[in-house]
Amino acid sequence: MKPVPGLQVKVTLNGPYEVVGVVPVRMETIGTNLHSESVKWIPGKTFTPNSQPFYLCRCGHSNKKPFCDDTHKKINFDGTETAGHTDYIDDAELLEGPTALLTDVQKLCAFARYCDPNGQVWSMVNDTDSPRTREQFIKQVGECPSGRLVAWDRETKKPIEPLLSPEIGVVEDPAKGSSGPLWLQGGIEVIDADGVPYEVRNRVTLCRCGASNNKPFCDGSHVSTGFKDNIQP
Ligand code: FES
Repeated sequence: MKPVPGLQVKVTLNGPYEVVGVVPVRMETIGTNLHSESVKWIPGKTFTPNSQPFYLCRCGHSNKKPFCDDTHKKINFDGTETAGHTDYIDDAELLEGPTALLTDVQKLCAFARYCDPNGQVWSMVNDTDSPRTREQFIKQVGECPSGRLVAWDRETKKPIEPLLSPEIGVVEDPAKGSSGPLWLQGGIEVIDADGVPYEVRNRVTLCRCGASNNKPFCDGSHVSTGFKDNIQP
């Protein structure tokens, strides 16, 4: 997809994300049902940057989260990018259902778990000849914040993406007692520390706990490390 004009997130060497351009930064909480399944996104308060460009913490240790306060220098943060620049589709596994396809790049998993309800999307794709299941399948896949999962129309071979306005979500995951990644929505361009752009995608999650093994992207490590940003809702 085409990048949002005038908006970029630049990874800085062993430092924060530099955000150039105007974009809402908003708390986004994973909403769950009575069975603790992820079923909706709950938008929360917005954060107002006090500069342009502005800087979002990538090391997980700022005292002014989600913004950087230079703590990364004191802790000698190693923010080495390991993700590489392969396009999503070249890394993806393909599952084929009767009316829809599912592509999956597991290493991008941000552990938000919208894939799990109703028997999991990897099974649901097989039942997409049922209009109801197809609709629910597309909804659950589209709620995957990292874009690990993409639903495609089998006939047109086109992706079925949710309409997302440009936003940076600051993810909270109360069901797991942790805070999550930065959720880039709507085609925000990400540039690596050498100035090379990553593929522009509708849904991208960036590590903000400092522990991902797939930097700058989230790999779900915030759950196993128990990362908490302690931001008041
Ligand atoms: S990246 Fe600067 S304080 Fe975390």
